[in-house]
Amino acid sequence: MSFPTRRLRRLRTSEKMRELVQETRLSPSDLICPIFVQEDIKTRIKIESMPSIERLPLDDVTDEVGTISDLGIPAIMLFGIPSNKDETGSSAFDDNGIVQKAISQVRENFGDKIVIMADTCLCQFTSTGHCGVISNNKVDNDASLELLAKTAVSQAKAGMDTSSPSAMMDGQVAAIRNALDDEGFSDVSIMSHAAKHRSNFYSPFRDAAACAPEFGDRKTYQMPYTNAREAMMEVETDINEGVDIVMIKPALSYLDLISETRRRFNIPVAAYSVSGEYALVKAASQLGYVNENEVTDEILSSIKRAGADMIVTYFAKSAAKFMQES
Ligand code: PBG
Repeated sequence: MSFPTRRLRRLRTSEKMRELVQETRLSPSDLICPIFVQEDIKTRIKIESMPSIERLPLDDVTDEVGTISDLGIPAIMLFGIPSNKDETGSSAFDDNGIVQKAISQVRENFGDKIVIMADTCLCQFTSTGHCGVISNNKVDNDASLELLAKTAVSQAKAGMDTSSPSAMMDGQVAAIRNALDDEGFSDVSIMSHAAKHRSNFYSPFRDAAACAPEFGDRKTYQMPYTNAREAMMEVETDINEGVDIVMIKPALSYLDLISETRRRFNIPVAAYSVSGEYALVKAASQLGYVNENEVTDEILSSIKRAGADMIVTYFAKSAAKFMQES
C-alpha cells in the first residue's frame, strides 16, 4: 500500500497545534464600530431590519463609546440623522449639526483614546436623499464636491480624526484633502469609500439612516458590482488624490476586490461589511439556521484573510465580546 506523501492533517491534531499554524487572527483592534446618532430624540430608536442596532440620542453617545472602547475597539464611524433636510443638505456642514456635536462630545470625553471617523456624505441631509446636489435632474458632481469639502472641514473643526467620504463623486478625495489642508487640518486623514458599489445590501441602512433616494437610484455614481478593473481604477484614483486608507464596500461578496487591492497597492485597506450582510446573519440566526457568533467569526476572519487591515461592521461589539470571552 502506498502512503500519502503529504499529510496536512498532522497540523490539525489538537487545538494547540491548530493555534500554532493559524494564519489569520481576528482581534477587536481590527474593528471599526458604526454609530447612528439622531438629532432631537430623547430615547433610543430600534432599527427594525438591523436587530440590536439603534439610533442614539446625542446624550447616549458618550456611554456608547465607553462600551465600545472598553471592548478594545479602536475606532468609531459616526452617521448622523438630522431633523432638517434641504436641497443642499446644509445640516451636513452646519458647525452645530448633529454629527459635529457628537464628534466634539466624544473628543471632549475620550481625548485621543478612540479614533473618531465620520461619514462625509450628503444623503442623510438632502431632501432628495441623493449623495450630491441636483441640477437639471442630475446629481451635479462638481457642485457636490464643494459641499462635501465644507462638510469635512466642519467635522474636522469639531475634532474628527478621519473623514470617510462615501458619496462616490469624482474628485471627492482631492476636494476634501485641499479644503482640509487650506483650513489647517493637515493631520486629519481620509478613508475613502474608494470602490463603493451600487449594492442591494444597503437596504437596511436606509432604514437606519433614513436616506433612501426620493427618485431614481445611485447607479450614476456608485460602481456597478460587475466591474473589477473599474474598482481598481477607483482605488488608484483615490491614491493619486492623496487618500490615506482605501475602502472596499460591501465586503463579503467583494473579497476578490479586497485581495486584489491588497496585492496591487501598499496602502491600508478597509472593508465595510454592510447592513445587508448583518441582516442576513441576524435573520438566519434568529430562525435557528446558523449560529450567529460562529458565522460572524468566519465572515470577519474571511474578510481579514482576503487582505483587509480593518473592518467596519455592525458586529463590532458582539464580535469583540466573543473574542474577549474565548
Ligand atoms: C450613504 C451610505 C450608505 C451606506 C453608507 N453610507 C447607503 C447608500 O449608499 O445607499 C451603506 C452602509 C450599509 O449598508 O451598512 N452614503
